[in-house]
Amino acid sequence: MPQPSIIIHNAGQLLTVDPARMTAENPLGMIENGALRIEAGRIVWIGSSSDLNPADYPAHQWLDAKGKLVMPGLIDSHTHTIFAGDRANEFELRLQGKTYLEIAQAGGGILKTVTATREASADTLRQLTLARLQRMRRFGVTTVEVKSGYGLDFASEIKCLEVLQSLQTESPVSVIPTYMGGHDIPPEYKGRTDAYVDLLCTEQIPVVAARGLAVFCDVFCEQGYFDVAQSRKILETARQHGLKLKIHAEEFCDLGGAQLAGELRATSADHLLNISDTGIAALKAGGTVATLLPGTAFYLRIKDYAPALKLLAAGVPVALATDFNPGSCVIDNLQLIMALACLQMNMPPVDVIKAVTLHAAMALDLQHDRGSLTVGKRADIAMFEAASYNELLYRVGSNLLTDVIVGGDYRPL
Ligand code: NIG
Ligand code: FE
Repeated sequence: MPQPSIIIHNAGQLLTVDPARMTAENPLGMIENGALRIEAGRIVWIGSSSDLNPADYPAHQWLDAKGKLVMPGLIDSHTHTIFAGDRANEFELRLQGKTYLEIAQAGGGILKTVTATREASADTLRQLTLARLQRMRRFGVTTVEVKSGYGLDFASEIKCLEVLQSLQTESPVSVIPTYMGGHDIPPEYKGRTDAYVDLLCTEQIPVVAARGLAVFCDVFCEQGYFDVAQSRKILETARQHGLKLKIHAEEFCDLGGAQLAGELRATSADHLLNISDTGIAALKAGGTVATLLPGTAFYLRIKDYAPALKLLAAGVPVALATDFNPGSCVIDNLQLIMALACLQMNMPPVDVIKAVTLHAAMALDLQHDRGSLTVGKRADIAMFEAASYNELLYRVGSNLLTDVIVGGDYRPL
């Protein structure tokens, strides 16, 4: 079905986040009283509302923003959205003082979700994931990266990736799939991590890549999970098979995953709570995006957040994402993550806006297609009941979204 042509006008602040419009005085390329035109799912014109003559576009659908904030649709570039079951019991254990790693060692953690996900049918997983993506859309998110990694055997990983593939066509948001067989060591390989890594490299990665079931490969490089050498093997194999690279690095300790990411020129390195100065320099040198997930530190009550300001000062592009998953962060609201980035990491509002738009697109290697309001890019647009982007951040905990357009598709929330 051809998509209707749309005009949005009277935006109080139209944040283009377009590098070509950004200056020191106007760091987000903002157009006041802005307008834009969408045709066939793409942005075809951007400018001032006063330059629009209704008589020129009688067949377009006119959307009056009435002074609201209009900006690129939010991009959640790091989530674990496909899983079954829940881990609500771990919430209370942590209140009693148990740490995330202690709970995992005692039989909770990722492996508990693996059991539930293996048992779930594709149809159940599809319904659960679809409902979660729908919720994310209602917060203004238009692109969501989703990792596998709660299957951890061939059939279950493929089952999850196939569900994600089926969701790409009819999902309420754009889904970018990541293969993460290296999320944990499954029970049948306990104590035999190297053998499990071999299995991933010889049996899973080649099939996932050949079938086009994932764009990225990610690995949990962490004490008790995959060390740097094992992570390197997984990522190098993935690259040989044409997958792009991501890594969970320095979440609970500084293992050197960031150095590996920089050396491999990975697209992103994520978490980074314990990143060293050497790690920061490696990300800069490798052109790797630092994806920070302050919701996880908040949810696990870790005091030291990732050093966002140091990363920004070093010139590393910083993205922000939810890390939505059943264990370490159940927050699916990217607006809340933006506020946490301000309050807990002192990130300036301008950097926060970039971190969920342009830099998040870079974290998915999609900056040429989305992440800013630029002529030619996908029409992914979020509209908020806020007079300014500062107001969006300041209203911590409220969902200010009023309208969202995904790839030119404008439907009620
Ligand atoms: O990003 N770090 C590894 N994976 C998730 C946690 C997943 C879970 O606890 O189920 C994370 O924090
Ligand atoms: Fe994660």
